[in-house]
Amino acid sequence: MVANRSIRRRLAGVIYRAMARSTLKPAQAPWSPQSWRSKKALQLPSYPDQGEVDRVMAEIARLPPLVTSWEVEGLKEQIAAAAQGEYFLLQGGDCAESFAECRSETIANKLKILLQMSLVLVLGTRRRVIRVGRFAGQYAKPRSQDLETRDGETLHTYRGDLVNRLPFTREDRTPDPQRMLRGYERSALTLNFIRGLIEGGFADLHHTEYWDLGFVKHSPHAAEYRQIVAAIGESIRFMDTLGYVDADQMRRVDFFSSHEGLHLPYEQAQTRQVPHRTGWYNLAAHMPWIGLRTADPEGAHVEYFRGISNPIGVKVGPGTDRDQLLRLLDLLHPEDEPGRLTLIHRFGAQRIAHELPALVKIVKESGKTVLWCCDPMHGNTEKLSDGTKTRRFDNIRSELEQALDLHDELGGRLGGVHFELTGDDVTECIGGARGLREADLKRAYLTQVDPRLNYEQALELAMIVARHVGGDGRGDGAD
Ligand code: PEP
Ligand code: CO
Repeated sequence: MVANRSIRRRLAGVIYRAMARSTLKPAQAPWSPQSWRSKKALQLPSYPDQGEVDRVMAEIARLPPLVTSWEVEGLKEQIAAAAQGEYFLLQGGDCAESFAECRSETIANKLKILLQMSLVLVLGTRRRVIRVGRFAGQYAKPRSQDLETRDGETLHTYRGDLVNRLPFTREDRTPDPQRMLRGYERSALTLNFIRGLIEGGFADLHHTEYWDLGFVKHSPHAAEYRQIVAAIGESIRFMDTLGYVDADQMRRVDFFSSHEGLHLPYEQAQTRQVPHRTGWYNLAAHMPWIGLRTADPEGAHVEYFRGISNPIGVKVGPGTDRDQLLRLLDLLHPEDEPGRLTLIHRFGAQRIAHELPALVKIVKESGKTVLWCCDPMHGNTEKLSDGTKTRRFDNIRSELEQALDLHDELGGRLGGVHFELTGDDVTECIGGARGLREADLKRAYLTQVDPRLNYEQALELAMIVARHVGGDGRGDGAD
């Protein structure tokens, strides 16, 4: 069945591409990798020396790409299948990666938690899982203010390691174009390590012990996770015996990269045409996404994204209205190409029930297919009285559960989740099975921007999704 479906999907893709080439397309304004410059661009730094920005961009453009169009198209196919219920999208990683944390242990821990979560999801949802990391390029951040004042001194806000540095000194906060090159290199180092680990068998389903994290044995979820691992191990041994398993496929688990495509000069520099394909690809990441603050249909970010061929995400949430959504569908998803558009909603536990249904209905009326993905993090951020940013596990869980129910009730499906998480034992979000309290946050509060789920909280959420999707008979793509 899976094979048949996959052949049908490929065929649909081929037919789609042939039709897209041959039919008259709706008139669209001309596009180029730099056409975004004619639009209003929010959230970009002002550099002291534009000449240096241009030189850095030219250098990045000469270097080899970070990902290939083959991988990008492969991901698009999988997302198309997720929209049909055959796959489930797991997207996760740091809010903001930092150059300093480009270390083997941090990267390996992130892979481990994503692999563990996907194991839980595979068993629970009975769907295959697409793993997309918020990594290898998640270095630029949108901020609510351009400037920050402390003790009478006003400096640029920190916009992520791609732009400037966090310490509050003039030197650190001045945007430095060379950091784009450093970010590009660190993304390459991260991807190189991930590819090496996967190639070497790190993700081999026969060896889930490779993904163990030291502190797991003390986790409240240890027993449930062990059961899941044992169940999967048993099925694999059974299929091995029957000769059903393609050993190579078991060893080769795909990981894809994603980041917010915020810093347009950096994205433009890696926008390329490739032999034997039409169109342009952003080869800095497999799946870039547009953040909530830059999703204005008339703005520079939407202009840039409309011209690239990658599968893309767009954040939607409070304030996304009918006109905006219809316009985004027109501009970013004009031909309803399978796998092209993932809408990542992030309303907050208090607002989702009231606001999501309208958006789902608008997309339905448009007749277009998108993948719906829930980010239960960004609508649930709060500040404690001492100024610490946190999120309550109960709110995150509640938004996620509501999202699952709402999509069911509306006759569709939630096709994926988007989390800010780390494989480390941090204390940034309140709650979870271990009951982290406000007072615990000080112990290991390490994030540069938004609070992330720690290992246990992330695994717990995967279990909640797995129980929900698997428990109601909707894990229907899984033969
Ligand atoms: C983010 O994903 O880190 C982010 C800033 O999200 P949003 O655009 O949804 O606010
Ligand atoms: Co964030």
